[in-house]
Amino acid sequence: GLKIAVIGGGSSYTPELVEGFINRHHELPVRELWLVDIPEGEEKLNIVGELARRMVIKAGIDMTIYLTLDRRQALAGADFVTTQFRVGLLAARQKDEAIPLKYGVIGQETNGPGGLFKALRTIPVILEITKDIEELCPEAWLVNFTNPAGMITEAVLRHSNIKKVVGLCNVPIGMKMDLAEVLGVEADRLEIQFAGLNHMVYGLDVFLDGISIKEKALAAASDPGKQMSMKNIAALGWEPDFIKGIGVLPCPYHRYYYKTDEMLAEELEAFETTGTRADVVKGVETELFDLYKNVELQTKPEQLEKRGGAYYSEAACSLINSIYNNKQDVQPVNTKNCGAIAGIPYDSAVEVNCIITKEGPKPITVGELPVAVRGLVQQIKSFERTAVEAAVSGDYYNALTAMAINPLVPSDTIAKYLLDDMLEAHKDYLPAF
Ligand code: NAD
Ligand code: G6P
Ligand code: MN
Ligand code: MN
Repeated sequence: GLKIAVIGGGSSYTPELVEGFINRHHELPVRELWLVDIPEGEEKLNIVGELARRMVIKAGIDMTIYLTLDRRQALAGADFVTTQFRVGLLAARQKDEAIPLKYGVIGQETNGPGGLFKALRTIPVILEITKDIEELCPEAWLVNFTNPAGMITEAVLRHSNIKKVVGLCNVPIGMKMDLAEVLGVEADRLEIQFAGLNHMVYGLDVFLDGISIKEKALAAASDPGKQMSMKNIAALGWEPDFIKGIGVLPCPYHRYYYKTDEMLAEELEAFETTGTRADVVKGVETELFDLYKNVELQTKPEQLEKRGGAYYSEAACSLINSIYNNKQDVQPVNTKNCGAIAGIPYDSAVEVNCIITKEGPKPITVGELPVAVRGLVQQIKSFERTAVEAAVSGDYYNALTAMAINPLVPSDTIAKYLLDDMLEAHKDYLPAF
């Protein structure tokens, strides 16, 4: 049987993961599921852990749930390590989202200044975890869900000795499920050719039963009556002629880049009424944990769909299943480019369709991205690499460069004000600076 360690086990997403393992138990024999957290998360860990135990009992399967604050104990001999932790908790996210707004910059926790700071806080921790993995479970696969997932994968690829790492995001599966719904077809008949970076991924082509329906998909994606998005991103409508012109399916996060002014206005307005997304999530979490506490509850509640990461277990559990069973099916994941996307460094992380084998993801060659999107993808990769260098070195000039070259930051001067303000606000979680 398999031993799985989940770092950040107190997350409200954990019941999804447990459900995913339960549903696949006939082919994926998870015998030990270790949920790890830190003292600040102990209460959540206990609540979610007890729910996980009730779910397993209800399912009548042979899986033991362990709860611990000792990461090393959880990692020892693990076959897979999944990570879903939040350094600095929601309070840090609130700052990532609120501070940029003061400067007229979009406050977002994975893109722009927020993404930079989430990376600066998180990369030192993930690199500690990879050292523990090297020592305690060197054969394990690290399946990272922690954001910013693209930069975390880039950091692990470049700055750790771990080779078995995959970054995951629910955006591609979300795009596929939403598109299927809009088109009125079963999701498993659709195939999207994904390529790009995390939260910067495009559908280059769309197939229904193996036949390209790209034009139809692009029209559906920009139909004013049917806007597709994630729960955490305002579903502002796309200009249908723009989508037709650009010729690829954008992801929900592309709104920040192609509709910057409108998204900023939207965020400023929301800030005045409901606060930041972190504030909204605090409310959703309270609601979820109140439900989880109910000893009658034995399944994942549907309120979990209010979180932006809904359906993430589909991605995580199918990936682990396909690695374990050498399924060789196609899944979009964050992995080492290895030349799949021309112009992106060989050893950088990309989000791209891969064949999932026992030896891990094998990226499917894309070649050059369409000229209309190539530049933005390159720019974001430059930002990501510079941000990773800053996180690893603690170098102020790297951090400032990353901030200034991010397309959501309008000037060098604003970049510096914003950087200094955020460095001060987050200083407890930035020992390198
Ligand atoms: P959360 O705030 O509930 O945090 C999860 C747990 O991590 C908490 O219980 C917290 O105590 C714990 N934690 C914090 N620091 C830790 C550390 N050093 N070691 C171990 N545990 C630690 O967060 P969440 O909303 O469940 O999200 C978790 C992570 O997953 C975030 O980084 C979030 O951005 C990411 N996420 C990713 C996707 C994706 O598409 N990849 C989707 C949703 C969420
Ligand atoms: C999205 C993304 C995640 C993101 C999350 C936010 O779908 O893919 O990477 O972190 O949802 O959701 P939340 O409910 O925390 O705002
Ligand atoms: Mn994501
Ligand atoms: Mn700029």
